[in-house]
Amino acid sequence: MAKAKTSFFCQSCGAQASKWLGKCPTCGEWNTYVEEVIQLNEPAKQKFSATGKAPMAIKLDQIEAITETRIDTHNAELNRVLGGGLVPGSVVLIGGEPGIGKSTLLLQVALSMNSLKILYVSGEESDQQIRMRAERIGNLKSDCFILTETATQNIFRQIEILKPEVVIIDSIQTLQTDLIDSSPGSVSQIRECASELQRFAKQTNTPVLLIGHITKDGSLAGPKVLEHMVDAVLQFEGERNYGYRILRSIKNRFGSTSELGIYEMMSAGLREISSPSEILINRHHENFSGVAIASTVEGIRPMLIETQALVSTAVYGTPQRSATGFDLRRLNMLLAVLEKRCGFRLGTKDVFLNIAGGIRVDDPAIDLAVMSAVLSSGEDIAIPLKTCFAAEVGLSGEIRPVNRIEQRIAEAEKMGFEKIFISKHNSHNLKSLGIELIKVSKIEEVFSNLFG
Ligand code: TYD
Ligand code: MG
Repeated sequence: MAKAKTSFFCQSCGAQASKWLGKCPTCGEWNTYVEEVIQLNEPAKQKFSATGKAPMAIKLDQIEAITETRIDTHNAELNRVLGGGLVPGSVVLIGGEPGIGKSTLLLQVALSMNSLKILYVSGEESDQQIRMRAERIGNLKSDCFILTETATQNIFRQIEILKPEVVIIDSIQTLQTDLIDSSPGSVSQIRECASELQRFAKQTNTPVLLIGHITKDGSLAGPKVLEHMVDAVLQFEGERNYGYRILRSIKNRFGSTSELGIYEMMSAGLREISSPSEILINRHHENFSGVAIASTVEGIRPMLIETQALVSTAVYGTPQRSATGFDLRRLNMLLAVLEKRCGFRLGTKDVFLNIAGGIRVDDPAIDLAVMSAVLSSGEDIAIPLKTCFAAEVGLSGEIRPVNRIEQRIAEAEKMGFEKIFISKHNSHNLKSLGIELIKVSKIEEVFSNLFG
């Protein structure tokens, strides 16, 4: 018998090597190489040959234009993140840590897309478990077929019989193809199964939604290898202890990657949150110190976010700095600016920063709110109610302009705010509004305005 052909694959990035390596030269991870059998049970099907009908190169302007159709998922947040709905023939990967709610999201989408025949393939749960979940979500749609199977050959056989209009796979790590001998979840299996599904999607113009797991230490290869093979990668994330879940697009061939969908995990499935500002700011509390509201934009969507800071005298020698939902290095930078520009002594203080709701914010326009919250806590003076901030702060304490300022101002006005601090350089051509614009150019001006 012929010896099985094996090769070594990095479980982190999918790089291949003929021998074991301690450190992956491609992604730099250590101890990620695993030997896998790659012997194909069938000879490779596609080969270059001069025979048969070869495709002809054509001029760009002679390619037939098609009007792009989108399939409405009946889930406004998912539609938004996808760039307006599912594109026929596209493969979309939804990644996330175990237990975050990927299966719930896609089952819910499957059940709400009425008038379409859906095939939901699960390699993780039994029929009964899926039925229980569907009952919990509260909708037993008749045109949603459930298949608990992991062999791709059987899945494709069912697909041929059923002819579904949308296929959902939960999850890609559980699939297994006969063509390759290695175990499910290994890099070569994932790659082969994904490419079979991708060929199916392109040939039949059926959209395929894949679920992929990411573990905390990234030891499972899945999504990183897959990212290159699929049309869109969405990440489902959130703090386990909070109910809010965020769907972000990391790659999207058919739309923008800065879009964001927000959900709340309820006892009966995921609820779409169409107006995030209302839940992210708490307007019921009295005037506490250390709280500042930022007007941020995620994608093209404005939302108001509460930043909370606590500054206290350090008990131990080295003061602590901690940030949740915000980049710690950026916080340290802002604290250094505060120290230098405002003479605020932070060397002996612990500083804790928290973005309310378990949301992670990358928008630089939150800088001014962060600094104001820190100073408000340090001085123990509350920031006046109905005041919010939208500006980036530079290293010399200058207040820098931010993009989409009109939208930020409009959102603050809509939420009933009376004052918004913005950069002086941002204020060209801003119409007079029902909200007072406080235009500042230096951090010192902000604080003399706030705390007198
Ligand atoms: P699940 O979709 O199974 O996560 P994943 O597929 O990403 O691993 O969701 C698991 C969590 O969601 C679980 O802890 C229970 C919770 N959940 C609810 O709170 N409400 C619900 O209606 C459902 C179906 C799940
Ligand atoms: Mg699941």
